[in-house]
Amino acid sequence: MHKMLIDLPDQLETERLILRPYRAGDGAAYYEVCQRNKDHLLPYEAGNPALSVNTPAQAEILMRNFAADWAARNAFFWGAWDKTSEAFTAQIYAGPVDWELPEFEIGYFVDRDHEGQGYVTEAVRAVLAWLFEGMGTHRVRLACNEMNVRSWRVAERCGFVREGHLRQTRKLVLRADGSYSGDYLYGLLRHEFENLNH
Ligand SMILES: CC(C)(COP(=O)(O)OP(=O)(O)OC[C@H]1O[C@@H](n2cnc3c(N)ncnc32)[C@H](O)[C@@H]1OP(=O)(O)O)[C@@H](O)C(=O)NCCC(=O)NCCS
Repeated sequence: MHKMLIDLPDQLETERLILRPYRAGDGAAYYEVCQRNKDHLLPYEAGNPALSVNTPAQAEILMRNFAADWAARNAFFWGAWDKTSEAFTAQIYAGPVDWELPEFEIGYFVDRDHEGQGYVTEAVRAVLAWLFEGMGTHRVRLACNEMNVRSWRVAERCGFVREGHLRQTRKLVLRADGSYSGDYLYGLLRHEFENLNH
């Protein structure tokens, strides 16, 4: 099916979270998220668009660009908010790698005040269910630095299989022995996801 004919959900709901795409008007709140999380994101998320936000106007432009990318099916940025407190908790990115297979890539960060509470695992599981059940994907991939233990634990909790290890790719993140760190590559196949849920 052509990507523009795929119907996209307005939101996803989990036990504790509402996930939805960003929209015009989210900029002021997202600016606060960006400011609060800069130090938290720098070590392992150097390319995250949140790091380039320095004013509320830039945040609002980013929100509108995310919304445009969503509508064009170029990139799916999900914000996740706690149902009870309505606080922003996490962001999950899902990006098309290959519409023919199909294959998507995911990435994530948690708001620093919500780390270690299982929000990311909960949100990633919801996004995976949408990708496999709603988008018909065959494979989902993710990559993370080998020193980012919290990140690869999320991947493994969600059922991802480690498929590769790119050695010494990061000059600025060192291993205990002083050598450059590398990246772990993970993948999750449709039948593996289905087995997790039976
Ligand atoms: C990587 C990152 C997203 C992981 O976040 P996280 O909060 O550790 O992940 P989760 O939300 O899944 O939380 C898991 C932790 O919550 C704990 N937890 C508490 N309550 C829980 C619950 N109700 N359900 C599940 N887990 C719960 C788990 O035991 C686990 O702790 P542990 O890792 O010490 O065993 C976060 O560290 C981050 O944003 N880092 C900066 C950006 C980044 O590196 N992104 C990834 C780039 S690849």
